[in-house]
Amino acid sequence: MAGAMDSRIDEPRALAADAILRGLALKRLVKICCFDEVDSTNRLARDLARQGAAEGTVIIAEAQTHGRGRMGRVWISPPGVNLYISFLLRPELHPTQASKLTLTAAVAVAETVASYVPFSPRIKWPNDILLRGRKTAGILCELVCEAERSLFAVVGVGINLNFSPSLMPPELRYVATSLMGALGKPVDRLDFTRTLIQKMDTWYVTLTEGGFTPIADRWRRYARLEGRRIRVTQVDATFTAKAMDLDIDGALIVQTDDGTARRIVAGDIAFVDQN
Ligand code: BTN
Repeated sequence: MAGAMDSRIDEPRALAADAILRGLALKRLVKICCFDEVDSTNRLARDLARQGAAEGTVIIAEAQTHGRGRMGRVWISPPGVNLYISFLLRPELHPTQASKLTLTAAVAVAETVASYVPFSPRIKWPNDILLRGRKTAGILCELVCEAERSLFAVVGVGINLNFSPSLMPPELRYVATSLMGALGKPVDRLDFTRTLIQKMDTWYVTLTEGGFTPIADRWRRYARLEGRRIRVTQVDATFTAKAMDLDIDGALIVQTDDGTARRIVAGDIAFVDQN
């Protein structure tokens, strides 16, 4: 019946592991688990890791009731329109090198987003993906360590795909967007998810087998950061500076207003020039 068919067309199709995996050539991210609703895909991935889940387990949810952002923020996670995905990884990485994982994911997300939009997305250090200055994706990397060794990492990515900006809470509406908001039409969530997992797999293999240099180079291309005036916000300080470069471990090198070079390993930046 036409009526029944119409209502099915309006319902977003849930992401399913077999459809995601079909035809992909994955080396590491081989176990995909899809859920209708969880509190947080990062929380679930972390618990599974503690129970011994293998490297390369990928958790996807249609909705999150307690989606977590960086610095204690909430990640708004309505059902069926976006992508909430966490990668459980067990890299041989010293805990001080953890930001390499975040930057690896940022490159994979930026490349995936770039394949959908006719202009270049920007990575805002360390992990936001912006479309025309508005945030469309964020990454929360959580590392669990023992002494000097990383036991596992959970890299959680939230991407606003078909989230209508008009349905975003007022405090987000002018600072965030979605791919649909930028493109004026919805994107295919399954196709996007497949592309992202393939790219994340490839870049993770590069990180673990080839090193960080090619990732840092690609990251710089999307960040276009050098020389920009920025405001750095950390837990205990806020200051303006000139962005210089990405350090070999993923830290941001800035020049403060008295000419001193400084490494930023944690915090947020905002652009304060017009570029
Ligand atoms: C940020 O603050 O920019 C990071 C947002 C990360 C959100 C994602 S959604 C999937 C995963 N599960 C969570 O609870 N958070 C991350």
